[in-house]
Amino acid sequence: MRIPLVAGNWKMFNTVSEARNFVAILAPAIRDIKGVEKVLCPPFVDLLAVKALLEGTDIQLGGQNLHWEQSGAYTGEISGPMLAELCSHVIIGHSERRAYFGETNETVNRKVNAALANGLIPIVCVGETLEENEAGKTAQVVSQQIQAGLGGINLSDTARLVIAYEPVWAIGTGKAATAEGANAVIAEVIRPALAAEFGQMASQEIRVLYGGSVKAKNAGEFFSQPDIDGGLVGGACLIVDEFTQIIQAAA
Ligand code: PGA
Repeated sequence: MRIPLVAGNWKMFNTVSEARNFVAILAPAIRDIKGVEKVLCPPFVDLLAVKALLEGTDIQLGGQNLHWEQSGAYTGEISGPMLAELCSHVIIGHSERRAYFGETNETVNRKVNAALANGLIPIVCVGETLEENEAGKTAQVVSQQIQAGLGGINLSDTARLVIAYEPVWAIGTGKAATAEGANAVIAEVIRPALAAEFGQMASQEIRVLYGGSVKAKNAGEFFSQPDIDGGLVGGACLIVDEFTQIIQAAA
């Protein structure tokens, strides 16, 4: 049985004081919702303050990125050991990082290795652009992202890897994929690609989320699909009522 998971990707929103005010309202709203794993992914500088507010709850924390080295002369970067003292999860290979910060399937692979080596659960993002989608290349692009991004990874426990299918054209656009369409990509492309890397059984155990304009009003539709195990939520995770309803829909 795959336990549903909903992660909120705050992106570059909320200063420390804004984060404190927000989580003071959000945490009581979602803390008692059972049957779903809840993960908040604030900017690095907010982690410590948010962690303090989540003490005693089952709400988990994640980073939005990490460097693949343990430490070193990498100005501006954050390492696995640094994150591991503060959080349990880390988003890797988000399409915004691929588009604006030069991340590739190869850097994703190194980062996934670093996350696992430090006991962090990577939430690995894959998904095709609008152009690739329209050219009929979704299966090719997404399976290559899995193959190259996760190739050679030694996964001892399938609960310690999460995939997020995020069609790039659906992120922040208000134009979500259809629930059936997203489910089909996960069932027909992502799970088979995971099976090729980790075996058939593992491919059925690894959780695969949908991301891209998930809102309170469409969350139930996505989460009722057999191969969608929760969501990676951007914009709507910054609104308490929206995010609470999305978590409830997954529970
Ligand atoms: P969105 O972002 O929900 O605002 O579309 C999702 C994401 O980027 O993870």
